[in-house]
Amino acid sequence: MTKFTFDLTGKVAIVTGAGQGVGREIARTLADHGAKVAVNDFVIERARAVVAEIEAAGGKAIAVQADVGDAASVGKMAAEIEKALGPVDILVNNAGNAGPDADMPRIDFWTSDSAEWDRYFHVNLFGPMNCARAFIGGMVDRKWGRMVTIVSDAGRAGEQGHEAYSAAKAGAAGFSRALARSLGRHGVTANTISLSTMGREGHEPTPEGAALIKEMMKRYVIRRQGKPSDVAAVVLLLASDASPWITGQNYPVNGGFTFAL
Ligand SMILES: NC(=O)c1ccc[n+]([C@@H]2O[C@H](COP(=O)([O-])OP(=O)(O)OC[C@H]3O[C@@H](n4cnc5c(N)ncnc54)[C@H](O)[C@@H]3O)[C@@H](O)[C@H]2O)c1
Repeated sequence: MTKFTFDLTGKVAIVTGAGQGVGREIARTLADHGAKVAVNDFVIERARAVVAEIEAAGGKAIAVQADVGDAASVGKMAAEIEKALGPVDILVNNAGNAGPDADMPRIDFWTSDSAEWDRYFHVNLFGPMNCARAFIGGMVDRKWGRMVTIVSDAGRAGEQGHEAYSAAKAGAAGFSRALARSLGRHGVTANTISLSTMGREGHEPTPEGAALIKEMMKRYVIRRQGKPSDVAAVVLLLASDASPWITGQNYPVNGGFTFAL
């Protein structure tokens, strides 16, 4: 019988948009299980703060700045990581939403300007594509690799007022499925994790916000918002040797907001 330890010793991981929120917890969890982690963020100070946390806990990490939606920026970052930590084995595409610190206002799609859609595609779709382009080839050469992309139930079930975001996330899931087809024979898997509403750590909601969240939670089987650790646990499984026969799949981590067959 195999004993699964989720030990990532000797592996190099990159987590994009890992300076806060879900990505921060993914980076800390992978480091805690032995991986050397490149903590990427557009805002380098955030990545540095997470690296300091990882180092304080005895882990190994570096902070790397890049805009994942920009291929040249990702290429530079890839060279930096390879020099500092060695070739990347695990790619976690987490950077998302509307880009760094951008609001995500709900808007009637038919009143939107097409220029407003770009920022969603830039980070949520071109981010994973640029990073896959930069890191997957090395995994194929070494016959082991893992790509995990954080998507959203907005892309599975649809989210009113967030059509461009939904389309970009659905695109990232489609991209991952397509890429998975070429990677299986090389020992590389590609999967996605679909989130629904996450709680914001350190952000106390206003009374109106709290009432809105309570109303929203009525649609969840498990009546709370997601925690970053809910996501990090599934990333750990999909990034480890415990999941060699899982690829091209999506895992909803969503408190039962939607069910999948
Ligand atoms: N928060 C939610 O309710 C929710 C729901 C469903 C899906 N998701 C997805 O989960 C992931 C994590 O969400 P979160 O709420 O923790 O994120 P967040 O917005 O709190 O943090 C994302 C981090 O990514 C960085 N970033 C943004 N654009 C970047 C870019 N172009 N290049 C590099 N770094 C960039 C930001 O600076 C930020 O530090 C995202 O992909 C998001 O779309 C979140």
